[in-house]
Amino acid sequence: MVRDPNRLSIAVQKSGRLSDESIALLKRCGIRFAFSKDQLFCYGENLPIDLLLVRDDDIPQLLRDNVCDLGIVGQNVAQEYALSNALRNGSSAYTELRRLDFGYCRLAIAIPEALPFADLDDLNGRRIATTYPAITRRFLDENGLSAEIVSLSGSVEIAPSLGTADAIADIVSSGATLRANKLREVATVVQSSAVMLQSAKPMSAANREFLDRLLLRIDGALQVKESKYVMLHAPRNAVEAISRLIPGAETPSILPLAGHPDKVALHAVCTETVLWEHLESLKEAGASSILVLPVEKMLL
Ligand code: PRP
Ligand code: ZN
Repeated sequence: MVRDPNRLSIAVQKSGRLSDESIALLKRCGIRFAFSKDQLFCYGENLPIDLLLVRDDDIPQLLRDNVCDLGIVGQNVAQEYALSNALRNGSSAYTELRRLDFGYCRLAIAIPEALPFADLDDLNGRRIATTYPAITRRFLDENGLSAEIVSLSGSVEIAPSLGTADAIADIVSSGATLRANKLREVATVVQSSAVMLQSAKPMSAANREFLDRLLLRIDGALQVKESKYVMLHAPRNAVEAISRLIPGAETPSILPLAGHPDKVALHAVCTETVLWEHLESLKEAGASSILVLPVEKMLL
């Protein structure tokens, strides 16, 4: 495929844990894609930003080969690639641009429910099946353990029942896969969430500009999730105390209230979750007519 140097391309997982949220984030940034089923490539209709729908494990290599400019992938996949790659030649394929607020999971060691386990030393001499051999190797080395790693390309969770391994090191999100396979988690190797990576290869000036715009929008989209717009009435003499009680508020706007010289209206954007408890303490401090509104877009 010939790359258009004036269009940014972003690789995202085609189907899996990160797919929906990766695409939802880009849509929240105002990009409209022309989608059709089983497509590998989605054209950005209103911005020069295209999507490449691929296997998440392939994303670091695609960035390295400069097949795409950006990629959304789990830290687990990025770290595995970086570790196994560093073993070969130490060059860096990408830089981490942003941590995203989805795809939370952990790489964990799990063993059959029936197998006794006292501490990590019980892993000595065991065979651990994983699709993350480099991260698992580092974990074993750091803990002075001598287990054998059985490197698989998928379906790790069935390895113990097939007898090809005694334990697994695999991604756990809800824990459903472990439960379904009668495995129990005995150690966390590493925590992970989705990240946005950028290819280490230089990009055109035009693309750098689109990227800066996109990052501003991503920051806004990430910020907006928790953000609320709070409006309330406050007695003039309690404005300071009340402002301090609004969670994560920057300097609030203070507006006169028609017909109430002793009161003002106070408006503020809260960048933290607003709980009922916050509203109760605001009321106690003298606030009334408290409204909490969702924020749809934000550009900081
Ligand atoms: C991981 C892991 C399990 C599942 C665990 O796969 O291999 O299959 O997620 O999730 P759960 O705890 O919610 O059941 P992943 O989504 O990384 O897919 P991939 O290896 O096919 O990319
Ligand atoms: Zn994968």
